[in-house]
Amino acid sequence: MFANAYPPDIDEGVLDIMALPDGANYLHWVSDTNSDGRQYIGYRAGKYLKEEALKNSNNDILDMSELKVSEIVQTCRLLDNFSCLSKMPMNGPDKSTKFPLPNYDKLCFLKNIITNPNIIVGDYTYYDDFEEVMNFEKNVKYHFDFVGDKLVIGKFCMIASDVTFIMNGANHLSKSLSSYPFAIFGNGWERAMEGKSYPSKGDTVIGNDVWIGYNATIMPGVAIGDGAIIGSNSTVVKDVEPYTIVGGNPARSIRKRFDDETITRLLELKWWDWEIEKITANVDKLTAGAVDKLGS
Ligand SMILES: CC(C)(COP(=O)(O)OP(=O)(O)OC[C@H]1O[C@@H](n2cnc3c(N)ncnc32)[C@H](O)[C@@H]1OP(=O)(O)O)[C@@H](O)C(=O)NCCC(=O)NCCS
Repeated sequence: MFANAYPPDIDEGVLDIMALPDGANYLHWVSDTNSDGRQYIGYRAGKYLKEEALKNSNNDILDMSELKVSEIVQTCRLLDNFSCLSKMPMNGPDKSTKFPLPNYDKLCFLKNIITNPNIIVGDYTYYDDFEEVMNFEKNVKYHFDFVGDKLVIGKFCMIASDVTFIMNGANHLSKSLSSYPFAIFGNGWERAMEGKSYPSKGDTVIGNDVWIGYNATIMPGVAIGDGAIIGSNSTVVKDVEPYTIVGGNPARSIRKRFDDETITRLLELKWWDWEIEKITANVDKLTAGAVDKLGS
C-alpha cells in the first residue's frame, strides 16, 4: 500500500485524520527544506487522479480510495509509529502562492499576480478565469494613473471569470450640454475643460468574503459590504449592504443572507481577520449556519 523508505531523523508528528478533506483519496508526502535548513516531510491529502498525486509527490503516496476511515486511522497510527511525519500543521493553502490548486493555472490568489499599485487585494481572495488569470487587470477598465482612484478588495473574496470593474477614468461630463470630451483632442479645444473636472465617485471598495458572480460589472465608486453576493451578469451601480445578495441591471437586492442579529454578529467577529489557525479550526462552522458556534 505504501513504501516505508522515510528519512529517519524527522520529528514525530500527528496526522489529523479529521483534517482530511471530504473525498480525499490520496495522501502524499512532500519533502522540503525549512528556512532554517532542516529537511521536513509534510503530507497533503486530496482528491487527485493517481497521476497527479504521483507528480506532486517526490516521496510516497498512499491510495486511500479503497480504505475505510478506520483503516486510514490505523494506517496513520502506524505512520506515527514510524515517526515519519513532521509537525507540519495543515492551515490551508499558502497565501503567497499564485496558483493554489495543483496543476491548475486558471485560478489564482489574486494578490500575488497584481502589478498595479492602485489595485489592493487581501489574502486568499481568488480570481478564476476561463482563459488566463492575467485578464484580471485588463478587466479593470479606464483605470488611469493620472486619475489615481483605487480598487480595494478584501480577504477571502471569490471573483468569477469576466468580472469587470469600471473605474472613474471612464466618466465624461453628464450634466453639461454635451458630454463630448473636446479638450482631449486639443487643436483649439483645450479650453473646453478649463475650470471643470470630470466627475469622480472615488475608490471602489469590495469587502471581505464577497462572492462576485460571472460577468458582473462593478461601476465606479461602489462599495460592496462584507459577505455580499453579486449575481452573475449583474451591473452594480450602488453600494451593496453587507451580507446582501443582489442581481440584475441595475443590481437590486434579492435578499439578505441572514437575519439582522446574525449579520451584526458576523460583522463584529470579522472572522477573515483571525489568525489562520483559528480560521482552520472553524472552517466546518464557517460553512454551516450557526454563528454562535463560531470562534472556539
Ligand atoms: C445570485 C445567486 C447567488 C442567487 O442564487 P439563489 O439564492 O439560489 O437565488 P434563486 O435562483 O432562488 O433566485 C432568487 C431570485 O433572484 C433572481 N436572480 C437570481 N440570480 C440572478 C441574477 N444573476 N441576476 C438577477 N436576478 C437574479 C431570481 O430571478 C429570483 O427572483 P424572484 O424571487 O423574483 O423570482 C445566483 O443566481 C447567482 O447569480 N450566482 C452566481 C453564479 C456564478 O456566476 N458563479 C461563478 C463561478 S464562482
